[in-house]
Amino acid sequence: MAKPLRAALAAALLMCLCGAAAADERESTRLTYLAGTCNACHGSSITIPALAGRPAPETAAALRAWRDGSRVNPIMNAVAGGLDDDAIDGLADLFAHAEPIAGEARP
Ligand code: HEC
Repeated sequence: MAKPLRAALAAALLMCLCGAAAADERESTRLTYLAGTCNACHGSSITIPALAGRPAPETAAALRAWRDGSRVNPIMNAVAGGLDDDAIDGLADLFAHAEPIAGEARP
């Protein structure tokens, strides 16, 4: 293979990999910000159940039920209504692996 072609292919591959890494980073930043909005209610309340440590399938199922209206709570219907599938699965996974905040209500 000619050298310039090889260099061009290497550069293209690198751009591809960096693009994917940047997309991953954007998604993880988006999830971190979203999780922060959840924690405003779930992170410190003694009445609203904690999300940290909750199994991901349980959290994801609850969010989908609120999004499609089969479970009714005015606050969570509004919150879940704004989440796409990637956000639901990402948040469910993030919270499943999160350490509970000290003093947080237990699920
Ligand atoms: C304005 C306050 C508020 C915000 C913000 C909020 N929640 Fe909630 N959440 C609630 C309340 C209140 C309940 C209890 C609703 C019920 O059980 O009917 C709840 C319940 C839940 C439950 C079910 C818990 C259980 O035991 O059934 C999940 C899962 C959940 N929220 C996830 C989230 C996620 C993820 C976010 C962020 C994207 C979020 N919530 C943002 C107030 C909030």
